[in-house]
Amino acid sequence: MMPTALRSESHLAGTTIAVRPSTNFVKTPAIQNLANRSLGYLREGFPVHFRGPAGSGKTTLAFHVAAQLGRPVVFLIGDEEMTTSNLVGGQYGYQYRKVVDRYVHTVLKYEEGATRSWSDHRLTTACREGCTLVYDEFTRSRAEANNVLLGVLEERILVLPVPNQNESYIKVHPEFRAIFTSNPQEYSGVHDAQDALSDRMIMLDVDYFDRDTELAIAASRSRLSESSVAPIVDLVRGYRASGEYDQAPTLRTSIMIARMVSAQKLRTSTAEPRFVQICMDLLGPRTAFSSRSADQRQQQSKMLMSLIAHHCSGREAGDEGTAERLGPEAEPAAAMNQQSGSHVRINRMQAKEARRRGDGTRQGTS
Ligand SMILES: Nc1ncnc2c1ncn2[C@@H]1O[C@H](COP(=O)(O)OP(=O)(O)OP(=O)(O)O)[C@@H](O)[C@H]1O
Ligand SMILES: [Mg+2]
Repeated sequence: MMPTALRSESHLAGTTIAVRPSTNFVKTPAIQNLANRSLGYLREGFPVHFRGPAGSGKTTLAFHVAAQLGRPVVFLIGDEEMTTSNLVGGQYGYQYRKVVDRYVHTVLKYEEGATRSWSDHRLTTACREGCTLVYDEFTRSRAEANNVLLGVLEERILVLPVPNQNESYIKVHPEFRAIFTSNPQEYSGVHDAQDALSDRMIMLDVDYFDRDTELAIAASRSRLSESSVAPIVDLVRGYRASGEYDQAPTLRTSIMIARMVSAQKLRTSTAEPRFVQICMDLLGPRTAFSSRSADQRQQQSKMLMSLIAHHCSGREAGDEGTAERLGPEAEPAAAMNQQSGSHVRINRMQAKEARRRGDGTRQGTS
């Protein structure tokens, strides 16, 4: 059943997002478990913090959970430049008032005045109206900016940085809820979350999903079957397990490759040069150019080619995925993690697999 869209509240237009559960959202037991746990905490009034590496599905999950709460969503993205006023609002400009009174024609009464005009920003709107705040990557904002959340989350009072006429505090609406996300592995442009703020949230780790979940998501997002995306997902997971990169390949990479395969109707095979090129384009640059010598980059490319050969042995898209045929033995990259010179190890495993299949292919084991 498709849930109905939220009523659009005109006075909130431009500040809030009316979200509804997406039909494209994939619910596997792992995702459902996380969603249910977080909803339980949120319904009780506790803020929830999804913490996990890039591409692990934090923001998507935050919106999914927010949609279940059935309130308008206020969406914020943490930023180094964020200030308390950016979050809460402030006095911007003046409102002029001029009265010319000639009620008694011989008397001219003249009054003129100006008051600073206050403007609510998104956190204030969320607190006043009982919205669900989704504060994505909140650790990108400095602790000073986020301090205002301490009172909001604990005492449920929003302290205005400068009084709005006679209003210095706002009582937080009982339906206000907050969902935060952060990436603990990110080192560029992030700050440590202050203990006091973290202590007010329930932190749920959103790690890389299990294989079944990644298959289901990659298939749904590319409109291919799970068996078609299996070689891609296994390739990306294999590369991730290898540890031979500076920036981990994520589910997002699997989705991108799968979408290109779908759009260009490619085979997920080493016999398909465009497929191999796409894999190399999307996976290759995950190593910082400057951190490796030309030789190391060449080794890296060879390793990637070995992984592609291992996982994408040439079935047409729609056939059973290579890894499904190989079964649990097909985790070469996990083995690579334990030993350098990893492509050699993969070749050995490929040779072993070839022997097991009895296809008589001779492969070097040097
Ligand atoms: N349950 C799901 N159903 C469908 N697609 C999903 C699901 N979870 C994640 N995705 C897709 O996976 C990709 C990564 O998800 P998302 O952007 O939520 O990750 P993230 O952890 O927020 O990443 P980042 O830290 O880089 O912002 C997106 O393309 C998203 O649409
Ligand atoms: Mg995100």
